[in-house]
Amino acid sequence: MRILYCRFQIKFYDRITFAFLGYLFLFAYLPALAQTVSTGTGTIIRQRISINENWRFFKYDSITPADNLFYDVRPEVDDFQDDRPADTKPTEAENIEATQIVLKPWILPAGNDFIKDPAMHYIRPEGNPGNDFPFVQNDFNDSSWELLNLPHDWAIKGPFYEGPNPEVGGGMGRLPSHGVAWYRKSLNIPESDEGKSIFLDVDGAMSYAMVWLNGKLIGGWPYGYTSWRLDLTPYIIPGGENQLAIRLDNPNNSSRWYPGGGIYRNVWLVKTDPIHVGQWGTYITTSDVSKTSAKINLEIIIDNDSQNDVVVSTITKIFELDSEGKQSGDVVAEIKTSETKITAVNKGKVEGSAIIENPKLWGPPPTQTPKQYVAVTTLFYGEKQIDQYETKFGIRSLRFDPNSGVYVNGELIKIKGVNQHHDLGALGAAFNTRAAERQLEILREMGCNAIRISHNPPAPELLELTDKMGFLVMDEAFDVWQRRKTPNDFHLIFPEWYEQDLRSMIRRDRNNPSVIIWSFGNEVGEQYTDEAGAALAKLLNDICKEEDPTRPTTSAMNWAKPDMPFPTAMNVISLNYQGEGIRQDPMFEGTDRIRTVPQYDPYHKKFPDKVILTSESASAASSRGIYLFPVTPDITSPIRDGRGGDSKFKHVSAYELYAVDFGSSVDKVFGSIDQHPFVAGEFVWNGFDYIGEPTPYYEARSSYTGIIDLAGFKKDRFYIYQAHWRPELPMVHILPHWNWPERVGEITPVHVFTSGDEAELFLNGNSLGRKKKGQYEYRLRWDDVKYKPGELKVIAYKNGEEWAEDVVKTTDNPAKLELSVDRNQINDDGKDLSFITVKVIDKNGLTVPTATNNIKFKIEGPGEIVATDNGDPTDFVPFPSHERKAFSGLALVIIRSKEGEPGSIILIAKSPELEEAQVVVKVK
Ligand code: GAL
Repeated sequence: MRILYCRFQIKFYDRITFAFLGYLFLFAYLPALAQTVSTGTGTIIRQRISINENWRFFKYDSITPADNLFYDVRPEVDDFQDDRPADTKPTEAENIEATQIVLKPWILPAGNDFIKDPAMHYIRPEGNPGNDFPFVQNDFNDSSWELLNLPHDWAIKGPFYEGPNPEVGGGMGRLPSHGVAWYRKSLNIPESDEGKSIFLDVDGAMSYAMVWLNGKLIGGWPYGYTSWRLDLTPYIIPGGENQLAIRLDNPNNSSRWYPGGGIYRNVWLVKTDPIHVGQWGTYITTSDVSKTSAKINLEIIIDNDSQNDVVVSTITKIFELDSEGKQSGDVVAEIKTSETKITAVNKGKVEGSAIIENPKLWGPPPTQTPKQYVAVTTLFYGEKQIDQYETKFGIRSLRFDPNSGVYVNGELIKIKGVNQHHDLGALGAAFNTRAAERQLEILREMGCNAIRISHNPPAPELLELTDKMGFLVMDEAFDVWQRRKTPNDFHLIFPEWYEQDLRSMIRRDRNNPSVIIWSFGNEVGEQYTDEAGAALAKLLNDICKEEDPTRPTTSAMNWAKPDMPFPTAMNVISLNYQGEGIRQDPMFEGTDRIRTVPQYDPYHKKFPDKVILTSESASAASSRGIYLFPVTPDITSPIRDGRGGDSKFKHVSAYELYAVDFGSSVDKVFGSIDQHPFVAGEFVWNGFDYIGEPTPYYEARSSYTGIIDLAGFKKDRFYIYQAHWRPELPMVHILPHWNWPERVGEITPVHVFTSGDEAELFLNGNSLGRKKKGQYEYRLRWDDVKYKPGELKVIAYKNGEEWAEDVVKTTDNPAKLELSVDRNQINDDGKDLSFITVKVIDKNGLTVPTATNNIKFKIEGPGEIVATDNGDPTDFVPFPSHERKAFSGLALVIIRSKEGEPGSIILIAKSPELEEAQVVVKVK
C-alpha cells in the first residue's frame, strides 16, 4: 500500500488548508451571523427540550452499497479474526490512501471548543457536501421509513449471525451493529425563536455522526461514546419546519465488544439567549471540607454569541437536593460575580466562591450518605436575567494514600468495584435509566461500591445514578490510542480527536461527585512503545489535569512493568490482572502471550508515593447454573475441556474456580489483595455479562465473565463477593444444585460461600463435617461428597455462633410457571420498565435448576414486551421474541409502559405441560 500521508501529519496539513477555505466561507456568511443579537427580553429563555420522539429511520442492508458521504477513508479489512485473547499486543496503525472526497473537514470544526490552542482550531471549508443528496432535502418523502423514538439501538433486535464465518463475529456480539443508516426529524421552530441561539445536544450516537439541517451539512462527531453539541443557529429558519437529517456509519471490525448502533442516548434541543452559560459551562470544586464547613469554588464560562461586546454578571444560589434529586429548602449559600465584559462572539470566564456551614457531605453507603446540592446560576445582562443554569454537585473530600487506599471524607473506603460495559443486556445499547438503576441495585446488594466505566464515556444519566446512589466511579475515555486492537477501532480517529474526546468527557463529568478518577486508557498498545508511548500518556494525563486538577489520573496496564516509562505518566497505578500475576499455571510455560509474576510488590516498591489498585481483576467465567465435572482441586484454573470448560456446548462451569487464560479466580484475587493491604481495592472484570466478547467460546453471543448474567440473574459468584464484601450480612450459599440423577454415587463436590467463618454441611440430615476458613481462604469445600438425591443443608457460624443457613433440595419434575416482578408499579412515561422473573417450578414450588422449557408470553393492558432473555450466552433467539426457553430454570421478560396510559398490565406465561402463570404490574 502506497503511503500518502501519515495519520499524525494530516492534522497540521489539513488545518492550514481548512483555515484558508474557512476564511472564504466566513466572509460569505458574515452578513447572516451579524443579525444575531441578544434578545434582551429580560426573561430567561433557556429551554432544554427532549427531541427523542418521532424520528424516521432508514438503514441500508449489508448488500446494497450505501451513499458515498464518507467521513473518512478506512483501511481495507483482511483480518477478520475476532477471537483473539483480549490481551493480545495491539498493532501499529495502517497508513491509508485517500482516493475520494471525504467530509471530515466539515465535521472537525464541531470539536473546536475542546482544542486548547486556538491556532489549531479547524475552520469549516466552503461548500455544502451532500446538499444534493435526497435524504437531507426538506421535501424528501420519508414516510416509508420506520417511525421510532430514541434512544434507539438498531442492532439489538437481531437476528444473530449464527454459525462459522459470520458477517459480524462473536466479539461484536453477532448482531448487525455495522452499516450506514439515516435518522430524520422535522423540528418546528416558531417565529418567536428568531434571535435565539439554538443547539442540538446528542448524548451519544454510534458512530461517525454527520448532521444536516435544511440541506446544509453542519457538523458531527465520530466517536460513538462522546456527548456533543452542534450550533444550529446559523442554519435554522424560525417560523416553520426545519429538517434534521443525521447519517451514522458504524464500521464492522471496530470493537472488541458489542457497540450497538444508532442514536442510542438522549437528544435535546437547547434554546438560549445568544449570551448564555456555555456547554457544560460550570465547574464546581469543593475544598477545605469538614463536617462544620466547606468552601465551594465556582467557575462559569459564558458564551457571548452576539455581535456586541457585553457586560454580564451572575448570581448563583445553592440549595440542598433531597434523596429524589429535587431542590429542597432555602438557599444555603450564594455566589455573586462582579460585572465582566465579554467581547462579541467570544467566551468569558467568571469565578467566585462561598462557604457552606455544616455541609451535608456526599459519600458512599453504607457508612456515608450521598447528599447532593444544586447550584442555580442566573446570568444578568445589565439588569436583565437572560439565562438560568443548574449544576448538581456534591461536597466531599478525597485523599489517595499509597499505603492504604482511597479516603472519602476521611474514611478509608476500600474499592469493591466492578467493570461495566454500556449495553443493558437484551435492551442493547439504547440507554434506559431504570435498566441501569436495576443493575446498580443488584450490584449494591452484592456489596459493590464502585464502577469502572469500561472503556469509554458513559451516558450522563448513569453518572446521575451513581451520584444519587453513592457509587465511586472511574470514568474512562479510551480502549485504544494510536495502536489498534481491531482494524476499524478508535485508533482511526485518535490523532484528530483525542483532545476533543478527552476534554469533553471531563468537562461533562467533572461536577459529578461520584467520579473520583479519570482514566485515559485501557491496556493500550503504547505500553509497548517505551518513551514514545509514555510521552503520549503524559500528553493525555496533562489534558486531564488541565480540565480537572482535583482528581487523580490513570491508565490501566496489563503489560507495563514498574521499570518502564509508561507508569510514570499517571497518578494512580491501575493494574489489570498483573497484581495476581498472569498465566502462572504451568500449562503456560513457554507461551508467547503475556506471562507475568505478581506485580503488587514491585510496583509499590518502585512507586511508594502512588496509590495502586486493580482496574481489572479475575476475568473469571461461568454459565449460570451449569456445573461441570471433575472440579479442579486448585483455587484457580484456566478453562479447558475437563478443566471447567465444555467446548461442545460452549459453557463454563459455575463452580467459580475458572478464569480466562490471563485471569484468576475470585479466591485467588481476594487472597492476593488481602496480602497486600496497600492495594486500594479492585474493579472486577466484570459486573454484568455483556453482549460480545464471549471468551472462551466465540461461537456464543455474550460474555461469560459477568458476576451476574446478561438477564440480571445472579451466578454463584455473586455470593462469594457478597460474603467477602458484606461481612456484616449473615449469609451462606451452597453450590451446585442437587438434581443429578445420572451421578448417584459419584463424587459431586459441594462448595459454600459465607460471610461467617465456619460451616457444617448436612446431606439428608447426616453431617459431612464442620469446616473453618483458613487464612486467605474464601470458600468452604467438601470435595468428596458422593451424590445422593435429597437435601443439602448448611449451617454457617461466625465466632462460634450460628450465623446463617441455606438449603438446596433435589426437585421434582417441572410442573408450573411462577412470575415475580422487580417492581409491581411503574410510571406511564413510556420509558419505565418492569423486569419479570419467570421460574419453572416443581409441584412443591422449588425452582427446577435444570429446566429448559420453552415459554410463550402474552401481554394485556397498557404495556409492551420489549425483550426476553435467560442469560444463556449461547441462546440465539432474538431478544424481542415473545417466546424464550428457560435456562437453568429461569427466564426474564422486560415490559415497558405506554406513555400517558395508566392502568394494569397483565403478563401471562404459558408452556406446554406446565401450569400457566400471570402477574399484574400497575401503571400510574
Ligand atoms: C481485558 C480487557 C477487557 C476485557 C477483558 C476480558 O484484558 O481490558 O476489556 O476484554 O480482558 O476478559
